[in-house]
Amino acid sequence: MAAKGREKLGTETPLSAEPFVPASTNLADLAAAAAACEGCPLFARATQTVFGEGPSSARIVLLGEQPGDAEDLDGRPFVGPAGSLLDRALAAAGLERAGVYVTNAVKHFSWEPRGKRRIHKKPRQSEIKACRPWLDAEVHALRPSVLVCLGATAVQAVLGSGVTIAAARGRAFDTPRGRVLVARHPSAVLRMRTPEERRRAFDELVEDLTLAARLAKRE
Ligand code: URA
Ligand code: SF4
Repeated sequence: MAAKGREKLGTETPLSAEPFVPASTNLADLAAAAAACEGCPLFARATQTVFGEGPSSARIVLLGEQPGDAEDLDGRPFVGPAGSLLDRALAAAGLERAGVYVTNAVKHFSWEPRGKRRIHKKPRQSEIKACRPWLDAEVHALRPSVLVCLGATAVQAVLGSGVTIAAARGRAFDTPRGRVLVARHPSAVLRMRTPEERRRAFDELVEDLTLAARLAKRE
């Protein structure tokens, strides 16, 4: 399977994780296979695949952008500063982190060097698209009530471009892949300039997670 994927990289075939995705609805099988994914160039400079994490019974899937430096080293999604903020927002929305499934649109850390540091580099459209089969497999395995897109990259991966967070948050979208909500990315909340802006953005994230909890409970 891996050889087939490598062959593809040198040809005009579009980048895709597809040859690496097993026909399984078992999350552990998917995670194990994703560890060997070479569906786009990002695997080469990252430490490891950071697959989604959470119980197979999860009714809510939270979708971020890509692992950051901390996640790349740890191997789990949202364990760095953005993860701490997400945990606080989940708690404020009455949700337990251990009860939801947390994943990313892109499963390898995309970065560029700045001095000795590795700085987050926005994944390319082609990489987001290449990684999509993993998200599809996760969603197919979980069949969640609600998929919450955290930030623009997740929105782009699920709803396509042209949807802004400010316009789309707080509303439920019914898509062929199920119900989708849009919320701010925890890192965007952390980047707000003033404490007042940060507080407002945090409250909005909590509101959107609360809506997700309500919709999931209703099903
Ligand atoms: N930001 C993300 O989008 N995902 C993570 O896992 C960590 C930070
Ligand atoms: Fe595969 Fe996604 Fe990693 Fe690219 S980012 S190598 S498609 S798991």
